[in-house]
Amino acid sequence: MRAYLFTAAALFLSLEASASVTIRKTDRGSTGYEVDFRYFNATAKRVLIGGGIQPFTDQFHTTGTSFRFNGRYDPRDYKPGDFYVSNPSPQLPAEPAYKWPYEMSRSEGGFWTYTTPLPSGTYSFAYLVDCNYAPNCSIDTGNLVIDPDLPPFLNVPGDQVASSFQVPFDARFQASPELNTNFDYALDTIDPHLHRGVIKTANYTSPGSIHPAPGVHDFTIYLPAEYGRVSGKKYPLLYLSHGAGGNGADWENLGRMSHIMDNLIRLGHIPPTVVVMPSFYNLDSESPRFIYGNKSNSVPVPPAHFVRENFERFLFPWVDEHYDVCRHASCRAYAGLSMGAVLTYEMFVNATDKFDYYGMFSPATAAPYINASSVAANPQLAHKGIMIAYGLYDFVLPQARDLQTALDAVEIRYINRVTPFGSHYWNTWQDELWWFGVKVLWKALPFGVQTGR
Ligand SMILES: *[C@@H]1O[C@H](CO)[C@@H](O)[C@H](O)[C@H]1NC(C)=O
Ligand SMILES: *[C@@H]1O[C@H](CO)[C@@H](O)[C@H](O)[C@H]1NC(C)=O
Ligand SMILES: *[C@@H]1O[C@H](CO)[C@@H](O)[C@H](O)[C@H]1NC(C)=O
Ligand SMILES: *[C@@H]1O[C@H](CO)[C@@H](O)[C@H](O)[C@H]1NC(C)=O
Ligand SMILES: *[C@@H]1O[C@H](CO)[C@@H](O)[C@H](O)[C@H]1NC(C)=O
Ligand SMILES: *[C@@H]1O[C@H](CO)[C@@H](O)[C@H](O)[C@H]1NC(C)=O
Repeated sequence: MRAYLFTAAALFLSLEASASVTIRKTDRGSTGYEVDFRYFNATAKRVLIGGGIQPFTDQFHTTGTSFRFNGRYDPRDYKPGDFYVSNPSPQLPAEPAYKWPYEMSRSEGGFWTYTTPLPSGTYSFAYLVDCNYAPNCSIDTGNLVIDPDLPPFLNVPGDQVASSFQVPFDARFQASPELNTNFDYALDTIDPHLHRGVIKTANYTSPGSIHPAPGVHDFTIYLPAEYGRVSGKKYPLLYLSHGAGGNGADWENLGRMSHIMDNLIRLGHIPPTVVVMPSFYNLDSESPRFIYGNKSNSVPVPPAHFVRENFERFLFPWVDEHYDVCRHASCRAYAGLSMGAVLTYEMFVNATDKFDYYGMFSPATAAPYINASSVAANPQLAHKGIMIAYGLYDFVLPQARDLQTALDAVEIRYINRVTPFGSHYWNTWQDELWWFGVKVLWKALPFGVQTGR
């Protein structure tokens, strides 16, 4: 009844500011699925769909050395085995040099529409309204518009600037002998009651923090479906970090990590595990501050040792006190992407007794690396479960290899994952989180050639 009474108002509102994304199974090419975007704006002159939706390429027309010469295919021309690599900078090329594949058409009544096939994967996007160059578009000036009907996962407004959705795999149109591009491990579970965990944001007391409120900092937490149903049980705990220019909501909003965890647990790859995704910005007023929604020309990086010390003082004790998590290093892990992998390396070297598992995804440089004398001074370094992962087209590939070379030199064994379609982007990090669960988390130490087989 109540819903009925509100229908007229809702309709009126929907004409004022409305958008929708519909994913349709088509049973035909190019991918077996089509996505309809619909956005209302009567005054706009041009609307592009920007963000994490990129042109496609294939492994025979992609290099990690010059993105300029990569194949860039419209998804209507998708072929099995195609994938996207993010632009080296997420900029839409300015007109008239390049026609972006996701340009919306104006239809009747001020609606803008776009329909495209898309293959399996997670896509994030925002509407760029009368703005052809992504770095120049922002929420403040109104030319970057977040889909009002598909709001981002976040704690406070401004923390995320894109919405996301997931397209399923259809083997008839997407299976390829060249490459597996099935991302269904990030799809929502078929049995929510049994398998869907809880994902939410939380605030904690962090003296000195300037965001989201003075003295208050925040994180995102994943609690497995079983959490709270077994009295007295303590769960293994994974800390999972964002990278430079991000925050604790990234892994869920852009990477759908809760679905990845649900599936890792459902398929028995790991026992139910709690995941805490902290934010490494705005911990105090001295260190570099960063807020997504605030346009910024440079992406600051706070020193890893500062973040570690801050988390050790305020975050870790708070999490231990408020959640049913296990306290021993053997059931605690730290992982992160890019600068978050540098922070993970800092935890490995300087919080060695707190975690037995470390996942360094697309690690940016963390040199100087450990050497024989560091291992002699801290022998535990050689008894951890480590994964080092990076994309084949990842611009940090050389740095990731340097880190591996440093560990090779002191005979520290690690699990290696080179994501075959990977650039420095979320599809790579989703893949790496998945394999971190399958091959690394909570596996018996020490790691050997049989680990994860
Ligand atoms: C519509 O487009 C104008 C630019 O013409 C922009 O400033 C405004 O924010 C848009 N409004 C909505 C509701 O998306
Ligand atoms: C982006 O904005 C800057 C500063 O306003 C301007 O100089 C530049 O021409 C803009 N770039 C494009 C491609 O519109
Ligand atoms: C965290 O604090 C901010 C600022 O006070 C508030 O806007 C937000 O809703 C809080 N989030 C949660 C999950 O309590
Ligand atoms: C963004 O920056 C402006 C200007 O510095 C500031 O007033 C505003 O509070 C910032 N927004 C957030 C969400 O911090
Ligand atoms: C972290 O470890 C490195 C390497 O052992 C050391 O040089 C550095 O001083 C440590 N940082 C802190 C803050 O303890
Ligand atoms: C080993 O690493 C430490 C810490 O970074 C450094 O001080 C030392 O000079 C290095 N030793 C050698 C032999 O390179």
